[in-house]
Amino acid sequence: MRTVLVVYGTRPEAIKLAPVVAGLAASAGLRPVVVVTGQHRAMLDQVNSLFGITPAHDLDILRERQDLTGVTTRSLQGLVRVLDAEQPDLVVVQGDTTTSFAAALAASYAQAPVAHVEAGLRTGARYDPFPEELNRRLTSALTTLHLAPTPTSRENLLAEGIDPAEVVVTGNTVIDALLDVVSRDLPLQDPALRRVEGAERVVLVTSHRRESWGEPMARTGRALARLARAFPDVLYVLPAHLNPAVREVLLPPVRGLANVLVTEPLGYSDMARLMAASTLVVTDSGGVQEEAPSLGKPVLVLRETTERPEAVLAGTVRLVGTDEDVVVEEVTRLLVDPDAHAQMAHAVNPYGDGQAARRVVGAIEHLFGLGPRPTDFTPAPARDLAAELA
Ligand code: UD1
Ligand code: UDP
Repeated sequence: MRTVLVVYGTRPEAIKLAPVVAGLAASAGLRPVVVVTGQHRAMLDQVNSLFGITPAHDLDILRERQDLTGVTTRSLQGLVRVLDAEQPDLVVVQGDTTTSFAAALAASYAQAPVAHVEAGLRTGARYDPFPEELNRRLTSALTTLHLAPTPTSRENLLAEGIDPAEVVVTGNTVIDALLDVVSRDLPLQDPALRRVEGAERVVLVTSHRRESWGEPMARTGRALARLARAFPDVLYVLPAHLNPAVREVLLPPVRGLANVLVTEPLGYSDMARLMAASTLVVTDSGGVQEEAPSLGKPVLVLRETTERPEAVLAGTVRLVGTDEDVVVEEVTRLLVDPDAHAQMAHAVNPYGDGQAARRVVGAIEHLFGLGPRPTDFTPAPARDLAAELA
């Protein structure tokens, strides 16, 4: 048996690695060992519990308002001990968080090979988004097996001189996770969401990115308050990230508005339901940009750049930035103009077909000579998950 250490620390990594952990556990030749850094706590534990994952090691590194150096050094120090104890044959990391980079670095210091899930996303701007673009470039430099979600991400890696033999296009495992929770049809966890069932129209809003902290996020909060007053029949749902830097700025402008529902971070199955019930989605999240197009929901992205151009090209995602007037105008247009909404509301699945984890596990088995190289993912005709949910 080959020991595969799967290391993650935040909510999106947990969601996107859950199908991979399940696939590794089902493989005859591989033994997954799950390690969480605990960069997130409640938001991470929520996901592990939904997918029935009990980490073998928990580094418990979260500190209130921890800076990047704190996340990196605590992760590195904890991982040294785990790597020494487990002597893994491979270390799997995901995405572009500081946990991902620190885990790839710790593995490399221990001379363990690294497989990077969701490899090759790029904006091309070194500091935008910060620190994610740095984290993913640095992680690529430390990786042996690059698991690119889309043909575009593969091209990004090849343009940086990475050997094509080390790149497999898998699709994004977030679609596997989404299909899994949708098919389980779980009851609502958060009673606050009962209001969504009675609402005529719902706009889902999330914002947490570091580049949005401060004035950009304040502008989003003010835009949301204006929209709530302009469309009292619309319910705006805002699942608030636990980061105090987010809550202190985003929430004050909408306080007291009856049609803005602020919730705690939602369990992933509630989040999937909420996305499916929404008229449109306003977000700066990476994962939500991948999920909502599969559900046929228009997405307005509160950022200037994206490393996920596929759904923008397909016409279901639009970059709007955080200018207050622009956000108000763009949301208004989709609420008052059925044609504009319909143009963006077709389901597209450029990010995956629900088989990404199978390809990830196949590529790892192939690395160890345990099986054939999986066939690369190519985006297929769209599958409308919202229709399947109804
Ligand atoms: C991190 C990632 C970001 C990713 C995001 C997903 C880095 C540098 N950033 O950003 O790429 O998009 O996760 O959500 O890796 N907190 C809690 N409990 C939790 C989670 C967070 O209290 O369960 C609070 C803590 O005060 C913590 C703060 O949120 O210090 C920020 O967490 P951190 O992981 O540093 O950054 P995120 O903004 O969540
Ligand atoms: N998500 C969730 N509950 C919430 C908000 C988001 O389960 O209250 C899910 C969302 O559907 C997506 C992932 O968390 O799968 C995205 O995480 P986040 O936006 O924190 O990070 P990013 O993707 O921007 O790195």
